Amino acid sequence: MEVDLARVPRGHQADRLAGELRASVRSGTLRAGTRLPASRTLAGDLGVSRGVVVRAYELLAAEGYLLSRQGSGTTVASVAGGDELPPVTPDRPVSNPGLPSGDTFPRAAWARCASRALATLTDDELGYGDPAGLPRLREELARYLGRVRSVLAPPERIVIVNGFAQASRLVADVQRATGDPRIGVEDPGSVGMREQLVAGGLTCVAIPVDGDGLRVDALAASGVRAVVVTPAHQFPTGIVLAPERRHSLLQWARDGGGLVVEDDYDAEFRYDRTPVGALQGLGPDVVLYGGSVSKTLAPGLRLGWMAVPPPLLTAYREAKYAADLSCGVLDQATLAEFLARGEMDRHIRRMAVEYRRRRDALAAAAATHLPGWTVAGTAAGLHLVLHPPTGDDEVLAAAAQAAGLDARPLSRYGVAAARPGLVVGYGHRPAADLTRAVAAFGGRRR
Ligand SMILES: Cc1ncc(COP(=O)(O)O)c(C=O)c1O
Repeated sequence: MEVDLARVPRGHQADRLAGELRASVRSGTLRAGTRLPASRTLAGDLGVSRGVVVRAYELLAAEGYLLSRQGSGTTVASVAGGDELPPVTPDRPVSNPGLPSGDTFPRAAWARCASRALATLTDDELGYGDPAGLPRLREELARYLGRVRSVLAPPERIVIVNGFAQASRLVADVQRATGDPRIGVEDPGSVGMREQLVAGGLTCVAIPVDGDGLRVDALAASGVRAVVVTPAHQFPTGIVLAPERRHSLLQWARDGGGLVVEDDYDAEFRYDRTPVGALQGLGPDVVLYGGSVSKTLAPGLRLGWMAVPPPLLTAYREAKYAADLSCGVLDQATLAEFLARGEMDRHIRRMAVEYRRRRDALAAAAATHLPGWTVAGTAAGLHLVLHPPTGDDEVLAAAAQAAGLDARPLSRYGVAAARPGLVVGYGHRPAADLTRAVAAFGGRRR
């Protein structure tokens, strides 16, 4: 045994020795059945008192790594899967073209709100709260969503969730319970959201999107009773759902007892005009509205909300309770403060200027360095789509990435053959980097 216990303080020697022995058993260096030296012998070898070795052996015997039998000494137990655990690395990083800028996260304002939230949370509020979320956050959200997104929902109809990802999962849970496991999704559309629905036991039915948004005629023909849409800024094409489609979508829901799930993921950011209000404002009876702070603040906060039509409210409250009881109360209270003090409005105003600058830089660089390419979609959000004159978008995306662009092939987002395109994220890249990367990409293509 090569363990140097000489420099280890007396009171910690047994723990250190146990740690070394445990690691050796896990890694297989000490194989099952190996007989360990008698405590007196090992203590002599290591220059420690016998009690240190006895305590280490006893601890490992209690944990199941060693076997101690009267008369036969101490042997190594057989430990299933005894390999050392590999270091934790995110083996499935979330691939997302719509990341907000991390370096402009309002740390100071968030910290002030968190500190105030901690100071004002009551002892009771630190217990298991309402599964639908902290009442004061739901009140602030009802005001904010009404003012900024024209959402019609009193606080009682709001359910706080861990981002739209959890909202999708709860949609799956509630929808599955109705006995109809099929749900319509936009094609092309969000891959992550489809994954949540499928993981929740639903079958996704692709409904095509054209230049006016979701094809409601195709939705009606599909026979599904629920559909997820991104009306303000279709993901990933950037199309705004046309006014007549909005009306026919609501009509479809009202006529057939259908449900429209509105994913309002990045609607606060519109650069050419005031954002179009949420569809939910026109149809609070048939639209389940969902949003989150993932684009306005940071996806890592995992905070979002749903505004639920009254007949479904109990089912969604129960689904949230069954999933994880409720969201973390400190973050909820912090967000409530952040909204109440006008910090959200200030941050969005500041970021809209910056994101617009980034989008303009990307579009201008594309016009200069990518002849024949077109920029598609409305001036909004944190990503845009670039269409090449020709070419395989998998190959083009690889070349664009090599040049430093956050680009993904449009074909990955849909099942029906779409025009080749690149979905390019610009929210998290400074304007100068975007210009440089497009120039490098264009240079390689000449
Ligand atoms: C289409 C779409 N909806 C919603 C979201 C937000 O998901 P969440 O709130 O779980 O972070 C994203 C994130 O990228 C998205 O692309």
